Order: sequence, then structure tokens, then C-alpha cells
Amino acid sequence: MTSAAQDHDQQAFPPSAEFAATANAGPELQAAADADRLAFWDTQAQRLDWATPWTQVLDWSDAPVAKWFVGGSLNVAYNCVDRHVEAGNGDRVAIAFEGEPGDSRSLTYNDLLAEVSKAANTFTDLGLVAGDRVAIYMPMIPEAIITMLACARLGLTHSVVFAGFSATALRSRIDDAEAKLLVTVDGQWRRGQAAPLKTAADEAVNGAASIQNVLVVQRTGIDVEWTDGRDLWWHETVEKASPEHTPEAFDAEHPLFILYTSGTTGKPKGIVHTSGGYLTQASYTHHYVFDHKPGKDVYWCTADIGWVTGHSYIVYGPLSNGATQVVYEGTPNSPNEHRHFEIIEKYGVSIYYTAPTLIRTFMKWGREIPDAHDLSSIRLLGSVGEPINPEAWRWYRAVIGAGKTPIVDTWWQTETGAIMISPLPGITATKPGSAMAPLPGISAKIVDDEATPLGAGGNGYLVLDQPWPAMLRGIWGDPLRYRETYWSRYEEQGWYFAGDGAKYDEDGALWVLGRVDDVMNVSGHRISTSEVESALVSHPAVAESAVVGAADDTTGQGIVAYVILLEHVENTGDQLIKELRDHVAVEISPIAKPRQITIVPELPKTRSGKIMRRLLRDVAEGRELGDTSTLVDPAVFDAIRKK
Ligand code: WT7
Repeated sequence: MTSAAQDHDQQAFPPSAEFAATANAGPELQAAADADRLAFWDTQAQRLDWATPWTQVLDWSDAPVAKWFVGGSLNVAYNCVDRHVEAGNGDRVAIAFEGEPGDSRSLTYNDLLAEVSKAANTFTDLGLVAGDRVAIYMPMIPEAIITMLACARLGLTHSVVFAGFSATALRSRIDDAEAKLLVTVDGQWRRGQAAPLKTAADEAVNGAASIQNVLVVQRTGIDVEWTDGRDLWWHETVEKASPEHTPEAFDAEHPLFILYTSGTTGKPKGIVHTSGGYLTQASYTHHYVFDHKPGKDVYWCTADIGWVTGHSYIVYGPLSNGATQVVYEGTPNSPNEHRHFEIIEKYGVSIYYTAPTLIRTFMKWGREIPDAHDLSSIRLLGSVGEPINPEAWRWYRAVIGAGKTPIVDTWWQTETGAIMISPLPGITATKPGSAMAPLPGISAKIVDDEATPLGAGGNGYLVLDQPWPAMLRGIWGDPLRYRETYWSRYEEQGWYFAGDGAKYDEDGALWVLGRVDDVMNVSGHRISTSEVESALVSHPAVAESAVVGAADDTTGQGIVAYVILLEHVENTGDQLIKELRDHVAVEISPIAKPRQITIVPELPKTRSGKIMRRLLRDVAEGRELGDTSTLVDPAVFDAIRKK
């Protein structure tokens, strides 16, 4: 690299004096956390309304299972809804909903309180009691958020399953959590079409032992099959229920939700989050990282509630802070590529939080699209889901942020529950592509295999060396896997292994470099290589498969699969490949469809029988092969390459 290019890469963007003057975060925040980390979190927890105060901030005696705010009790929904009404802000818009077909609906905090209460009364009538699990399989409509909050209000643990997942994926999540209720819709709007969803829900619950009822919101009006006694319409139950409901307080450690995410094995993990610590950190980070000003800002996080970003930065963080936010149902190019910018203009969005994959898509569509709109309401931009490449960062700031807004690149995970590493707007001079530093109250290290902390320039593993309030409390039903996955790597030190590579640069800025395990990141969606491999092998034509994530200009990574067919199977070429791709969509989700499938005679293996994925990645990314000395038969690549 030339030194001019290096300077360009190292260029930092300090906050403007104007932004800094009114920023929520000041230097005292870090100072307070440095002085006494637990006292700092004690202060942050007071952002919430508690029914009973806690007696101890952190109990780490049963590590790695933490208890935060021991003895405290609160109602999460009360904190997200009722208290804003009680404070006189009931008329403030909570959710400005924009449907894909162009319908819109606005819910104030008063409305939200009535709707959540109605749903809570219905769930109680259905016999659900605190601790029961509820599965949610819905698109981005207000009822999805209402359902989550109604669960929180009753102490029901929700498990949201992304509406893009297949019936098979939904079923395994319902079974694992033994959910009693499934809340879904007749269909969802996708690119102008009403796509059925209840069909998949029916397929999933058919024979599911735990499910007692299926509650259905009518979103599109398409025909559905109906099972009397089991199925209920939302408009015949919830909408007719009483809008009065008195919330009860639950223990700070009461399980709020389970959210399934991909690990390094085929079976998704049910990540468990609890109430007090989770809400404290979701609220704290939303307030400071997004510099959120209730009653002034219009906030828009473009995630889906099927992912943790939707849980923490559409539902719990913003609503606990009394935010006014946009919720959009559809895709960014429906009916055309102007949609997001029209929405920003229409609602005067001031804080916009999205993923690098969408930013790169906007870049591809061209700047004349955003340039055709008045985006001057925007004062802060956020990024999440994968490392943002400096080029996309610069484009985002220049084109969407009028060359002046701060960008917060937020690193965190389903497991961390809330943002961990991010610039603080108004304080941090940000470098394009760097998540910069752990937030006040959060502690992270970059270390090598021997747990030695690394200095500037050294690539290592990102670890979290102190417990944090929103941390996962375990994997549903699998305490052993929890310990093995996150805590066995640095067992002696008691550090959480995040699964990401990272480094510090000369200025101490932290760069997250991507996963170091067999987890792929496709458009910010986390998919494990072995999950896709198991799906492929479950097809009757496939003997063996190896899946790798290969660099992709738009989606970050693309899924590339190498497949060996069973002896008797006829290779019909494109037809078979299409069948295999569709099979993965049915087994997991269309988002897990391989970008490319190559049928090969053999896979590269070590003498101990391990597939050398590293080498397959070299092939998939068109590189020279790395070290092949441990391979049984280096010649297998001639056959693979020929394909
Ligand atoms: C993995 C977690 C956090 C909500 C969305 C994804 C990657 C996430 C960043 C970022 C670099 C990032 C990591 C992480 N990741 N945000 N700002 N910079 N990498 O949650 O599905 O649990 O995935 O996403 O690899 O481990 P998730």
C-alpha cells in the first residue's frame, strides 16, 4: 500500500462540535465505569422502574451463569409501555408502521398499552402462565411487537422464529422450547405478493406435542386451512379482550426470551436472555450509542424481529426509552429502490440503523436514488451485522449522512444481547471500518491461543473478560453446550470466547475481522457450515458435502457447497443442483441456499479424516492453494478445479 492510501485508511472522523455539544454521552461516562464498573451498572439499572430494588449488582459465584441485580424485580412491558403513559407521554407515537402495500398505521404509547393489555388478557384466557413458552412466527407488523410485549408482561418466554425460516426449522424450535402457543399470520406481503405463512405454520405444528393453540393475525386476507379448537383469529379474540391489565413484577433473572442462532454444529442453539440485566443494557446502549432523544428523534432500525437486532433495537431498547420509531414491513426495493429513502423523508427519520449488506446494495443501485430525496433529517447512522468495509462506510456517511453525521459501527452478538463495542457519538473520532472500543462498562481483550493479550497489529481472538448485564444465561436445555461453546477455550481465565478474530491498530482502535469458526455471515445472517451440510446430506442423492463461506461483494459471504453424490445417483447437472438448492431452502430457509454447488468426486481430507475447509475456501475465492501438505491426496483439487 502507498503511504497516501494508508493515510486515507487511517483518517479519523471526529464528531462535530455541534453534535458533541448536545450528545448524551460525555467523558464522565467512561470515567464512572473505570472508577467502579459495578457501581456504574448499578446507576444504569436505575434507568428502569423496578418493583423491588436489588440487593447485589452481580452474583458471579455460579460462573459462567451470571445473576445481575439479584433480588430485584420488574415488569419489562411496564418499563417499555406503561411508565411512558404514566409520565404523561401516552400521546407520543411509539410505532409508525409502514406496510409494504403502502398502508400505514400509527400507534401511540396509549394505543400500545391497550393492545398489549388485550393480548395479555387473551393469553391468560388461553391458560398460559409465567414461564410457559410462546413461539412467534410473524412478519414485521405491529402485532408481532405487541405479542412480544404481551409475553413479557405475563412472564411468558417468547421464541421468535424469523418468518423466512421453513416449517422444518420452525418445528425444531417449537419442539426444543416446548412452546404451547404459536402466534402467526395468514400471509405476509412480499414484493407486492401475499405469500402464505400459515401453511408453513400448520405444517410445523402438525403433530407438535406441546402446541395447544395457534393464534392467527389476518394480514393479507388469503385463504387458510383451519383446525377448530386449536386455531384462533386475533381479531376474534385479542381485539375483543379488555384493554385493562395490571402487570405483575418478575425476578430480574426471569427468562424473557429464547432466540435460536447458528453455532458450529448443525443444531441451532436456543440462546436464553433474562429480564433486568438485559433491559438495563438494551436501554443504556440505545440511549448513548444512538444518542437518542425521546420526543425529538425519529428512530428507524431496519432489522427484522426474527433476529436479535430486532429484539434489542426495535422492541426492548427503543421502547424502554420511550422512542418514536418507524417499523417497515417489506423489502427495500418494493415497489422500487426508492422505498427506504421515501420512508426517511416521509417520517423525518433522524437515526437510521442498518446492515453493511444493505449499504453495499444501495451503492450498487447508485447514489442518484438517495440523492433524489431530502434526507436532511438524518443526524446519526448505525451499522451492524458484519464488519463494514471502509469503502461502504465512507459512502454511507457521504451519501446518506450528508458528509457529516457520525456513524456507529456496533459489534455485538445474539449471545451478548446488546451492543458491546462501538464508537460513542459526540466523543469518539471514528475510523471507517473500525468498531473502535468497548463501551463504558464493557471489557474486552484480544488474545492469542495462549491467552496472551496482543498489542497493535497482532491478529487474535476477541474475548470478553468480564461478565456484562445483557449476557446470555445459557443455551436452552443444554448447560453443557453453553460451557463448552463459550467458556472452555479460556477456561482457566474465565473468559467468554466470542468466535471473532480482531486486532488493535497503532492508535488503539479495535477492528473486528470476522468469524474464526465454522459460522458464515451471509447478509448479516448467521448460518453454520454444518447446518447447510446436514441439510444437503439429508437429500437422497447426496453422500457427503462440505460447505464454506466465500467472500461476496454484496452479501459479505456467499455459501459455496461441494457435494459428493451417492454411487447410484445420476448427475443431471443443473437440474440436480437446483433441486439441492431448493432442498436447503425447505430444510432451513431460502437465506441458506448455497450461491454455488459443485458436484465433486472427492473432498480434500486430512489423514484424520477432517475436511480441509480452508483449502476449499481458497478454491471458492479463486486463490492459490495454501499449504496442502497434510492432505491425504492433494490431487483431489485437480478434479475439483476442473468443475
Ligand atoms: C456475529 C454475531 C449483533 C446483531 C446482528 C448479528 C458479526 C456483528 C458486527 C460488527 C463486525 C460484526 C460477528 C458476530 N458482527 N456485528 N459491527 N462488526 N462483525 O448477530 O447473528 O448473533 O451474529 O456477527 O461475527 O460474532 P448474530
